[in-house]
Amino acid sequence: MKIALGCDHGGINLKNAIIDYLEENEIAFEDFGCFSERSVDYPIYAYKVAKAVADNEYDFGILCCGTGIGVSMAANKVKGVRAAVVSNEFGAEMTRRHNNANILCMGGRVIKEDDAVRFTDIFLNTPFSSDEERHTRRVKMLSEIDNGTFSTE
Ligand code: RB5
Repeated sequence: MKIALGCDHGGINLKNAIIDYLEENEIAFEDFGCFSERSVDYPIYAYKVAKAVADNEYDFGILCCGTGIGVSMAANKVKGVRAAVVSNEFGAEMTRRHNNANILCMGGRVIKEDDAVRFTDIFLNTPFSSDEERHTRRVKMLSEIDNGTFSTE
């Protein structure tokens, strides 16, 4: 498994805690920045991670900003990305099981570092429910919205 990591200044605390977790568990990752608490623009880092995940260079992405919301908005504009803002265990599990989320987004001003690590662990260890047709059908609809072929008829 290989993970793409990114953050802005508002999420660097969570990203650093997640790096410790990944290193302890010998999970390969690349850190796309930022690397300090100096104020930066979150779309830059969200785009780098989202593009790398959409290009299948990484299995999953993890993005952190102040709320998790800005990075998720930016990431979800990249075709093929299903980025989810998570703030509890249930969301971390269900966005993998039901949405086949490929990017986990969290907010450094919303949740604590140990929560972010726990949600990361759940997210990375929960499979998509690919044997349940309704979930594959719905995720396929997301791709169709992405590529302009979706119809509600
Ligand atoms: C930065 O102050 C903050 O706006 C950013 O981290 C993020 O929360 C945006 O959604």
